[in-house]
Amino acid sequence: MGFPDVRLRRLRRTPAIRRLFDAPPPPPAKFVWPLFVVEGERRCEPIASMPGQNRMSVDVLLRTLEPVAAQGIGGVLLFGQTEGAKDAGGSGAFDARGVVQRAVPAIKRAFPELAVMTDVCLCAYTAHGHCGPLDRHGQVDNDAANGLLARVAVSHAAAGADVVAPSAMMDGQVRSIREALTENGFEQTLLMAYSTKFASSLYGPFRDAENSAPSAGDRKGYQASYGHPRTALRESEFDEEEGADILMVKPALFYLDVLAEVRRRTDLPVAAYNVSGEYSMIHAAAERGWGDLHAMARESLAALDRAGADLLLSYWAPLYRDLFG
Ligand code: PBG
Ligand code: ZN
Repeated sequence: MGFPDVRLRRLRRTPAIRRLFDAPPPPPAKFVWPLFVVEGERRCEPIASMPGQNRMSVDVLLRTLEPVAAQGIGGVLLFGQTEGAKDAGGSGAFDARGVVQRAVPAIKRAFPELAVMTDVCLCAYTAHGHCGPLDRHGQVDNDAANGLLARVAVSHAAAGADVVAPSAMMDGQVRSIREALTENGFEQTLLMAYSTKFASSLYGPFRDAENSAPSAGDRKGYQASYGHPRTALRESEFDEEEGADILMVKPALFYLDVLAEVRRRTDLPVAAYNVSGEYSMIHAAAERGWGDLHAMARESLAALDRAGADLLLSYWAPLYRDLFG
């Protein structure tokens, strides 16, 4: 049977009919808002390359979170920065008085309904901007990085983080962190691995925000190559074996095939990191009048939901109500 007996347009003729069949938008609880925390007080610095996002000191962050938490979003993911000197090993990242370590308990106290996640890396704290210390050849020293990353994760867990999220793409980082958490009595802390993380040209705005661009070289020696997606899938499989509770694909929108594949291969929850470049390019197009901001954002988030993401790490999170009513 075909046309004219079959008329697919019947199922979308009116808003009332479309509403019957359209999938509901992802609920707010699936959204996690990545936030940039800085030292000091009353600081709220707009990030030029990420319209609507700011670097905030803890006091401002708490005020900003109030209306956002009220929308029912699931949580926040914290990225810290130091005002102090950066060093070769990024020791500021595991300072017990660091901004992340102070922000975590403050957020947990004010918003017990939010899951508080922390990014575990060194690049915002190393003088050279790489995700681990360098060896004498100028390469990132994998195994030395693992010990430091474990210290960062333990300091975040000690501050009360619900979830620690290592993003450095070192081999064995998940095992190293899991063991350190257990040894230090944090066996309940969740570990979300940035497991399938590609060396991407879409992190530029974030590196502006975080001041974390490498001063020389790039991250292609540790982040996965988009030209070789099979090793990227193995990264997720390894992280699962090493004790991750949650896997992640990052970036998300240019990697929907990979997201769907990771979703199919594992029974762990899978997060999609809707990265800075994906957010900012939609803003840039909207500013030029080349598309409607909210409509483009909604459509991109629907794609992540459809590909099977259980968690959406997204800079759109604070706009949940504007986007989905
Ligand atoms: C650092 C880190 C990056 C992002 C999250 N953690 C940048 C990078 O790897 O250079 C990117 C997030 C974004 O672009 O929104 N390890
Ligand atoms: Zn890093």
